[in-house]
Amino acid sequence: MQELKLAFIGFGTVGQGFARLLQSKESILIEEHDLKIEVTTIIDKVMGMVVDPGGVDLANVLARVERDGKISNEMEVDSRQMIKDGNFDVLVEVSFTDIETAEPAISFIKAALQSGKHVISTNKGPPALAMKELEGLAKENGVYYRYEGTVLSGTPCLNLSSEAMRGVSIHSIRGILNGTCNYILEEMEQGTGYEQALNTAQELGYAEADPTADVEGFDAATKIVILANKLMNANLRVSDVDRSGIVGLTTDEIKKPDESGFKTKLIASAHRKNEKVNLQVGVNKLTLADPLANVNGVLNAATFSTDTLGDVTVIGPGAGSKATAQSLFSDLLAINDKLTTY
Ligand SMILES: NC(=O)c1ccc[n+]([C@@H]2O[C@H](COP(=O)([O-])OP(=O)(O)OC[C@H]3O[C@@H](n4cnc5c(N)ncnc54)[C@H](OP(=O)(O)O)[C@@H]3O)[C@@H](O)[C@H]2O)c1
Repeated sequence: MQELKLAFIGFGTVGQGFARLLQSKESILIEEHDLKIEVTTIIDKVMGMVVDPGGVDLANVLARVERDGKISNEMEVDSRQMIKDGNFDVLVEVSFTDIETAEPAISFIKAALQSGKHVISTNKGPPALAMKELEGLAKENGVYYRYEGTVLSGTPCLNLSSEAMRGVSIHSIRGILNGTCNYILEEMEQGTGYEQALNTAQELGYAEADPTADVEGFDAATKIVILANKLMNANLRVSDVDRSGIVGLTTDEIKKPDESGFKTKLIASAHRKNEKVNLQVGVNKLTLADPLANVNGVLNAATFSTDTLGDVTVIGPGAGSKATAQSLFSDLLAINDKLTTY
């Protein structure tokens, strides 16, 4: 049986969701994948840390987090050094996203790859800013860096296109990559004003207290950069995206679809023109026949326009503890498959 030791950096919504998933699927991992997982390290800036080379008791850690709101009072030491020296095979990088610098996550990922450890991550910053460098580093060190959950969370997207659809040429991608904006626009179609729709999104936990990254289109821009660089062989940055968000839209501009015949959506797109890939994020009016027009609430979606398959659209959750944890689970199993397939 293959054994893999994991270390978590970050233990918030996604980290805890992944710990729960590992627990609930332990027997499936053993019986169907011949894989035994042990978590040896968890480090979180707020929650504290736990290190046990013999395997952390996840049930106990999750119970402590539920009861006390933290793992321990022990606070982070030098995380990079712990990543370099730690006794584990795979770093689960689920710390905070900084869209501008992607730090400290990039340094954590580099430390892991350089010390021969695989990385699975849901953090958008590092692949948006340094995908080629990190993938090169992984290759150089004979390990894997996978980040399926950075776009569409656990809904198959990056791996679907780069693995299941291997060999197709993608000439454009259009997506609803931000569930918060999709929710707000749908509320506005029913006549609710922007501010009120945003407040409701915040009350429901869909929007952050500071909603700038979502409503000004930065989050969608970051994700379309990841898609274009990974799947269309582009080499673009967030500043290359022609971006506008949903701030300032009025209900007059967003008529009910049954009156106008259109749905209003924030669309992120990548189009290849000659040798160049152009990226855009902005509000589009879609005819009701467009599959993206029927993506409701906080769901996400992406349509890939290809040479051999025509259009392929995936629709599913784009956030949430369990759905995002699923992306880590599938990345972990993909690494295990590569390590055990001869
Ligand atoms: N939640 C989702 O649905 C979702 C979906 C797709 C992708 N993601 C991405 O997945 C990652 C994790 O998301 P999340 O929702 O779990 O976030 P979260 O609940 O805020 O958890 C992140 C945790 O990591 C901690 N952290 C930050 N910097 C750290 C460091 N230097 N060392 C150790 N721990 C650190 C945070 O502490 P502080 O609070 O002090 O920063 C926080 O406790 C983010 O990059 C996010 O963008 C999330």
